[in-house]
Amino acid sequence: MVPSSSSILSMLLVLLLSPFIVSHALQDRFLKCVSRNSASSFPFSTVLYTPKNSSFNSVLQSSAQNLRFTLPSVPKPEFIFTPLQESHIQAVVICSKQLGIHLRVRSGGHDFEGLSYVSEIESPFIVVDLAKLRSISVDIEHNSAWVQVGATNGELYYRISEKSKTHGFPSGTCPTTSRPKSHGRRSFLGHQRRRRWQLRNRHAWKVKLVPVPSAVTVFTVTKTLEQGATKLLYRWQQIADQLDKDLFIRVQIQTANVSSHGKRTITTSYNALFLGDANRLLQA
Ligand SMILES: *[C@@H]1O[C@H](CO)[C@@H](O)[C@H](O)[C@H]1NC(C)=O
Ligand SMILES: *[C@@H]1O[C@H](CO)[C@@H](O)[C@H](O)[C@H]1NC(C)=O
Repeated sequence: MVPSSSSILSMLLVLLLSPFIVSHALQDRFLKCVSRNSASSFPFSTVLYTPKNSSFNSVLQSSAQNLRFTLPSVPKPEFIFTPLQESHIQAVVICSKQLGIHLRVRSGGHDFEGLSYVSEIESPFIVVDLAKLRSISVDIEHNSAWVQVGATNGELYYRISEKSKTHGFPSGTCPTTSRPKSHGRRSFLGHQRRRRWQLRNRHAWKVKLVPVPSAVTVFTVTKTLEQGATKLLYRWQQIADQLDKDLFIRVQIQTANVSSHGKRTITTSYNALFLGDANRLLQA
């Protein structure tokens, strides 16, 4: 039998539209599943962003500092889910497993590698964005704070400073790093295992605050290649380990424009934090 042109046309339409139908069905099945697996009823569609929602791109790119991962050619998630409660995360994990969807999880911080919101191999994938779980509760009396995974360094520092000028949390210079990320790399808190347990069970970290003087000194000095950056960096490496223990200096090396005509150079920026006032720094 020769197929009629109208049946060929409808087959063609089905083929052309199937990616949309599949993704729409996936989203519906996902929404039903999270409702089923959630203790209390919640309008989950209000925390689910599909590429059709106008804010999809801004939510997706909110922590994408590396622009190469925002290119159209880079695989995009079917949708982004932004839990508002810890129980939502549990429902998402259960449902992504049940529906066979790959999961990428990201917290509130920056991600230069793109691993938390791009999946080159597993498809389809969704992003669970924990940026809305960012509450911070500071307990000065016990030198500690509970920090949800979506909170950033900058927010934590700010909340501590609201309550005390002599407590701090040594975490990093990037204000947009989220708590769990810098935690993984830092060892001064100890009890690594216990903290992991807390992350899994409460989606928050308990961090220990440290004493800091009420006055600290910060500075950044930048030198370009033309200003002798190479020689200075070489010298700095020879004395860095002999600096006062209260003085932290790191060097950031970047490219920069010398002029508006496109001539390029390299800059070295010495970012410093000294636990004391400027007078004591000059004597140190
Ligand atoms: C995305 O769009 C759908 C359909 O218009 C809407 O129901 C949903 O609430 C939107 N999601 C968000 C997070 O705004
Ligand atoms: C350097 O110059 C290029 C070309 O003029 C421009 O696109 C770029 O944004 C400039 N970079 C900085 C850091 O100013």
